[in-house]
Amino acid sequence: SGQTLWVLALGLSPHSHTVGIPEFKYVGNMHGNEVLGRVLLLHLIDDLVRGYRNNETWSLQLLNSTRIHILPTMNPDGFDSSDTDCTYVTGRFNSRGVDLNRNFPDAFDALKKRQQMDEEKREAEVRAVMSWLKMESFVLSANLHGGALVASYPYDNSNGGSELMGGASVSPDNDVFIHLAKVYSYNHASMHKGNRCSDSRPFLEGITNGYKWYPLEGGMQDYNYLWAQCLELTLEISCCKFPPVSELPALWTENRKALRAFIQQVHLGVKGQVLNGSGIPVQNALVEVEGRPNLSPFQTDKHGEYYRMLLPGNYTFKVSYPGHKVLTETLNIPHGPDQFCAMKHDFRLRQVTSASGSTSAQPTQTPTLNPALNLEGGGAMNRQTWTGLVLIFGLSGVLRSLIN
Ligand SMILES: *[C@@H]1O[C@H](CO)[C@@H](O)[C@H](O)[C@H]1NC(C)=O
Ligand SMILES: *[C@@H]1O[C@H](CO)[C@@H](O)[C@H](O)[C@H]1NC(C)=O
Ligand SMILES: *[C@@H]1O[C@H](CO)[C@@H](O)[C@H](O)[C@H]1NC(C)=O
Ligand SMILES: *[C@@H]1O[C@H](CO)[C@@H](O)[C@H](O)[C@H]1NC(C)=O
Ligand SMILES: [Zn+2]
Repeated sequence: SGQTLWVLALGLSPHSHTVGIPEFKYVGNMHGNEVLGRVLLLHLIDDLVRGYRNNETWSLQLLNSTRIHILPTMNPDGFDSSDTDCTYVTGRFNSRGVDLNRNFPDAFDALKKRQQMDEEKREAEVRAVMSWLKMESFVLSANLHGGALVASYPYDNSNGGSELMGGASVSPDNDVFIHLAKVYSYNHASMHKGNRCSDSRPFLEGITNGYKWYPLEGGMQDYNYLWAQCLELTLEISCCKFPPVSELPALWTENRKALRAFIQQVHLGVKGQVLNGSGIPVQNALVEVEGRPNLSPFQTDKHGEYYRMLLPGNYTFKVSYPGHKVLTETLNIPHGPDQFCAMKHDFRLRQVTSASGSTSAQPTQTPTLNPALNLEGGGAMNRQTWTGLVLIFGLSGVLRSLIN
């Protein structure tokens, strides 16, 4: 209904990306009647800024090392029409009656070629988020919901192929997703206990594969992972969708540590740039990890950067770019979050000379991939117009007045 979607970016240089600083985001209230995330994200902003002002180590470390984007409400129209019930759906949808968490292009559908990437199907709120994902190279994200107490991770959908295992739809980065989900559930006061809300089943350790819980098409977390190489979780943070005001302080206390700890995980794995023979960063180089056949392989962004979240261990990387020799390197990756910094590693490519017989990346290996998954191709992603407005504030006094 013409409302603005407001994002606040926090960090040492909040106005733009800094090479080496990962981009993180939280999205709240995409279902307008699931309101706790919206309130907690405002408290999180206050907490981060106050902590920074007071020289509290945790806040200095997070804001020193990360650019944090917070969208407290993705569905302000739904919120405005919501009732205050714990379980009803009034207010879930946007003003046009659409469930925003079913409205993203679905990679599995696209693979089946059942559905054209029809831009007209996209709601304004969804188009705004899709444009946002093109503007920033997000590494890690969570979107906050209510009505259950569980950390849910991709995939939410399936193609009926080999990803289906034991009723779950398992992604190549399943180990990372399970770890991320447990970071939230174990840092939450009770989520890890698998407490059931009155109408839901218990969740072992407070986590679940999205598909195993219930399959859904067009969800935001699969879209983030498959189309924007951003690992996203769906966090269900309260049994009651619209908790009474009196319960908010306790709910903040239950979630505060988990909200912080999850951001810190953005430093998992390895990051760096892919450089050509002259040391110039290269865009759209493929950075693949052996044994992880990502449907949409990770590739460098406009800064020639890649961020690859991985648990500690040894991994073999294959880096390819047209006209250059395929680079294969094995890296021993430590646990980055402890240092608030992922391991840094740049890959330096060498050009193929005409005399050289070695393997080079063929043009077909450039990021054309599956046309449906082509991040830069002629699909819906390219034709988006920016409808939401993103405003960025520094750590300034304006922020204080906004919060109070
Ligand atoms: C925080 O540290 C800075 C630099 O050391 C100092 O100038 C400032 O007074 C400190 N602020 C507080 C609230 O302690
Ligand atoms: C944050 O960065 C500033 C400036 O680069 C540095 O002086 C400070 O020690 C850092 N603080 C932490 C906790 O990393
Ligand atoms: C590296 O890229 C720059 C910019 O595209 C180009 O001018 C330079 O020739 C490249 N160097 C090599 C060795 O490919
Ligand atoms: C990784 O490789 C190093 C040697 O390069 C070895 O010392 C280490 O044990 C390996 N780590 C794992 C987890 O396999
Ligand atoms: Zn929801």
